[in-house]
Amino acid sequence: MPNHPELPAIVTIFGATGDLTKRKLVPALFNLFLDRELPKKFTLLAVGRRGDQASFIEAMEEGLAKFSRRGTADPKKWAEFAARIRYVALPFEDPNLYTEIAGVIAESEEEFGEPATRVFYLSVPPEIFATVSDGLGVAGLSGNRERDRIVIEKPFGRDLESAEQLNNRLLNHFEEPQIYRIDHYLGKETVQNILALRFGNTLYEPIWNRRYVENVQITVAEEVGVEKRGGYYETSGALRDMVQNHLLQLMCLVAMEPLVSFEADEVRNKKVDVLKAIRPIDIKNRHAFSVRGQYGPGYFQGQAVPGYRQETGVDLYSSTETYVALKLYVDNWRWQRVPFYLRTGKRMPRKLSQVVINFTPVPHQMFPSSVDDIEANRMIINIQPEEGISVRFAAKEPGSGMRLRTVSMDFNYEEAFHAESREAYETLLQEVIEGNTTLFMRADQEHLAWELLQPLINAYEEHPASSFPNYVAGTWGPESADIMLARDGHSWYNPNSGPAPRKEHA
Ligand code: BG6
Repeated sequence: MPNHPELPAIVTIFGATGDLTKRKLVPALFNLFLDRELPKKFTLLAVGRRGDQASFIEAMEEGLAKFSRRGTADPKKWAEFAARIRYVALPFEDPNLYTEIAGVIAESEEEFGEPATRVFYLSVPPEIFATVSDGLGVAGLSGNRERDRIVIEKPFGRDLESAEQLNNRLLNHFEEPQIYRIDHYLGKETVQNILALRFGNTLYEPIWNRRYVENVQITVAEEVGVEKRGGYYETSGALRDMVQNHLLQLMCLVAMEPLVSFEADEVRNKKVDVLKAIRPIDIKNRHAFSVRGQYGPGYFQGQAVPGYRQETGVDLYSSTETYVALKLYVDNWRWQRVPFYLRTGKRMPRKLSQVVINFTPVPHQMFPSSVDDIEANRMIINIQPEEGISVRFAAKEPGSGMRLRTVSMDFNYEEAFHAESREAYETLLQEVIEGNTTLFMRADQEHLAWELLQPLINAYEEHPASSFPNYVAGTWGPESADIMLARDGHSWYNPNSGPAPRKEHA
């Protein structure tokens, strides 16, 4: 059993009556508490817009039963945890709110008999970030560089300019090392495992380069449509919502150079190097490097589902993309001429986040009878829902003759460790409380990611797609995404179906 961290902590959640608090934040904090990963001296201060302490605690307990990986809470344990909750309902614009927060913090610290780490988690819409940050600053709750921390959730701005503005507002009160920008993908166990795989083993690093890797594919596919988030999604789209953050972060982990140490800034510097090396997208020739899509009505698991334009809060003529595929190059020695294909979409046939490293075919194939059946070597890093790694390679089929077949060597997280993976938010909250910024986005990473995509975002806005909707809900996206790879002689690796048949040039 781990020991509780020593320093006391007070976590304040703004937006406590919102969905994220109930689905993710409180279940994560409660699980950390059960696992003795929270400090013994701990206060959770919830700031909501309505209700009172008793109704908040009740709602959170219900939330655990529905959303926590551990299900319904043990009543005794929950009562112990709930005793540490304080609830305040005041508007974010009201200066009294911040005086009240300062009061609860002072009370808790007095009870602890020592100063605490103070975490301010902004689970609120982005337009409120600056109001809360200013409120905290004015109330003197941001000035301690070691102990005051502010956590924000994406979107960090809507574009390069608004991201810069937001950053400057935060920097009025907090210094960069006090700002924790969450990209929840970085808290996923299997995402962190990419570093372990690459730099904890001698086996893979020597072949992790342009000599042996033909192309890399990163897929984040979702079964769901936009659900109740049509209003937000209309101002966002797949490029902003998924590529600017999650997909580029995955790409950084796959493409980065070996680390000298596992220090936060070393990890983040190496990621920044990747972002700096990504070749700017050739906007005039963008159709060769990018494909956008929007789902139309279709079927999912036998049920008719609406198209994007029929979802609540969505314009009937919307040109917002719900799918994007990109071809990117990293201009450095390691990756010269190796395409990185990234794709993400809503309403795809299955939920799937994976990285596929496609290795080059053998230089000389001496088994002529079976050439068509053999795939080149491939490593598949499954991030979710299955968690693990598979390496696919050729083996001789039993029997006479020399027929080869592709077989798979599989590592499965749950089987290997006899444990279910913890939730990303458990890891992320623990890291904030312990003051480790490794898994969080630094301002320069954010900036470079926006800088890369902004020209494409602008081009999409200036030239709305005329072909939307261009894929049927429940399929792997528009055909033009297959054609983009086919032009390079490649094809997407889709699970179950294996590699799609190679297509002739379009
Ligand atoms: C969020 C996006 O960041 O990630 C959502 O805003 C998306 O649109 C979600 O559904 C996907 O996260 P996960 O962990 O379910 O892959």
